[in-house]
Amino acid sequence: GLVNSRDMFAKAVKGGYAIPAYNFNNMEQLQAIIQACVETRSPVILQVSKGARDYANINLLRNMARGATEYAKELGYEIPIVLHLDHGDSFETCKDCIDNGFSSVMIDGSHLPYEENIAVTKKVVEYAHKFDVTVEGELGVLAGIEDDVVAETSHYTKPEEVIDFVSRTGVDSLAISIGTSHGANKFTPEQCTRNADGVLIPPPLRFDILKEIEDKLPGFPIVLHGSSSVPVEFVKMINEHGGKLKDSVGIPEEQLRQAAKSAVCKINIDSDGRLAMTGTIRRVFDEKPGEFDPRKYLGPARDALKKMYMHKNEEVLGSAGKA
Ligand code: G3H
Ligand code: 13P
Ligand code: NA
Ligand code: ZN
Repeated sequence: GLVNSRDMFAKAVKGGYAIPAYNFNNMEQLQAIIQACVETRSPVILQVSKGARDYANINLLRNMARGATEYAKELGYEIPIVLHLDHGDSFETCKDCIDNGFSSVMIDGSHLPYEENIAVTKKVVEYAHKFDVTVEGELGVLAGIEDDVVAETSHYTKPEEVIDFVSRTGVDSLAISIGTSHGANKFTPEQCTRNADGVLIPPPLRFDILKEIEDKLPGFPIVLHGSSSVPVEFVKMINEHGGKLKDSVGIPEEQLRQAAKSAVCKINIDSDGRLAMTGTIRRVFDEKPGEFDPRKYLGPARDALKKMYMHKNEEVLGSAGKA
């Protein structure tokens, strides 16, 4: 069955790696995630956003996630799987997911005034813990688009707030803002430098802030949102087959590797999956214009996704072999 994140995080913090938190909205994405995590023997967090619920239906999604635990077994290895609400926007949304069998929820009050963030987060924790569901809270605002919340500029997490927030809310993990952001355009070209090949190199994450937070909360599970790397190969694939992505830049893998070795024990990745699927589907459409069976383009997209997730587990997050 599904598990909450408690054990997973304790082991990850101790072991110096991070659990992959991959978003899914459909069957092919879920298959790719499970195949990759079974093959690499990695624990995994399946994330469902509010947008995913609206798109695919909560009942279908939660039954798919439950089915995924049996699917993993069928593939030959039982891995721990968490079903997590990504960016819960209210107590009601969190309660609805808890009542529907989610094993973990995020209440994202990061855009609220501090005391309101504490109040709603505490309310979710009190309800969730009755059902042994774990809760992620957030302090600090990421740049970019968080569901309905559009943040023009980021506000890094204030280290001086974290002890008060964690102790007063009782959250099980804390998402922080240290320079990551959502989507495929994480930095403007003006914020970046260019390497010899003309590739945009973003400013480094604020590891100094992460360190201060870790010093205040030793061993406490920290979460990084907005951690897609926006691989150049997929951006190129999209643009070579009729797409028009511009100034796409993500978080370099080396920085995520470094973060995973710290108290960061959950790393959220959605955009990279979208890029891999879109690039692959565009290529199939371009190369085989007579094809009209969805399996003929969704299948290759699924394979590309799986390969990418395996790479992340093995080479970036260090979660491979930890299940
Ligand atoms: O943080 C946002 C996630 O990437 C989910 O995006 O709200 O478009 O499903 P979504
Ligand atoms: P990316 O847009 O960088 O993939 O971030 C996803 C995320 O944080 C989901 O909560
Ligand atoms: Na870690
Ligand atoms: Zn996020």
